[in-house]
Amino acid sequence: MAGSAPATRRVRVHRFKRGDAAPRADEYDVPIDERTTVLEALRWIQLHEDPTVGRRHSCFHASCGTCGVRVNGRERLACVTPVSEVSGTITVDPIANLPLLHDVVVDMAPFVARFPTPHPIVRESELPPEAGTPGVDDAFERYEDCIECGLCLSACPVAATDDTYLGPAALAYAQRLLEEPRADRDAILDWADQDAGAWRCHAAFECTEACPSDVRPAQRIMSLRKDLRRRRKDQGRDVPERPPSPTGASS
Ligand code: SF4
Ligand code: FES
Repeated sequence: MAGSAPATRRVRVHRFKRGDAAPRADEYDVPIDERTTVLEALRWIQLHEDPTVGRRHSCFHASCGTCGVRVNGRERLACVTPVSEVSGTITVDPIANLPLLHDVVVDMAPFVARFPTPHPIVRESELPPEAGTPGVDDAFERYEDCIECGLCLSACPVAATDDTYLGPAALAYAQRLLEEPRADRDAILDWADQDAGAWRCHAAFECTEACPSDVRPAQRIMSLRKDLRRRRKDQGRDVPERPPSPTGASS
């Protein structure tokens, strides 16, 4: 008995190579089953239709943060987004607010450059005493939970119009640093208090919505702002007016 033909889905991929006058969108019919992810659909296209389609990934299980894209306009990790959860044509675009390199691949350097230094941090406070002083290579751990995917920055309405804004991930990281017992609290708060820092957030909470790792950057920025407000009052300084929220959300 002949088997039924595999189901296919139409996938529209943002295409751009350095030197192109403008981006375009190419469409492909991709065979899928109930477990096919957006990343697997891109890989199928690359293997079977066009080897020049650019994509980035590493872990395939939501821990490296390299496969971030926008799927039908929403920030997603392609490796854990089943196509069955996406309705209609599956449109894959690069994340926003970072320079485009190739097709759906962006340059993450300006994202990483936003973080306070040192970054990553040395989490000596969590090392058991018998572990001794870590060596150079294993001394660093990433800010836990954050996989540095950049989805929060892509979803942020402030970053969309202001590329100097430090952005949700970097500010959330700073707030997390404050929990370290040996943190240089004043240095961190000075950093977050700069013009492009915590006060610039419009409390849209789009970053928290987009975050695949439950970092809740918006809530962390609100907490940071509370600390900044308290410190400014203690110092007899003005507390900046918070910019109006584009969504009416309040901190
Ligand atoms: S805070 Fe969340 S969305 Fe932002 S980079 Fe980290 S994991 Fe990604
Ligand atoms: S491939 Fe690592 S998070 Fe998706």
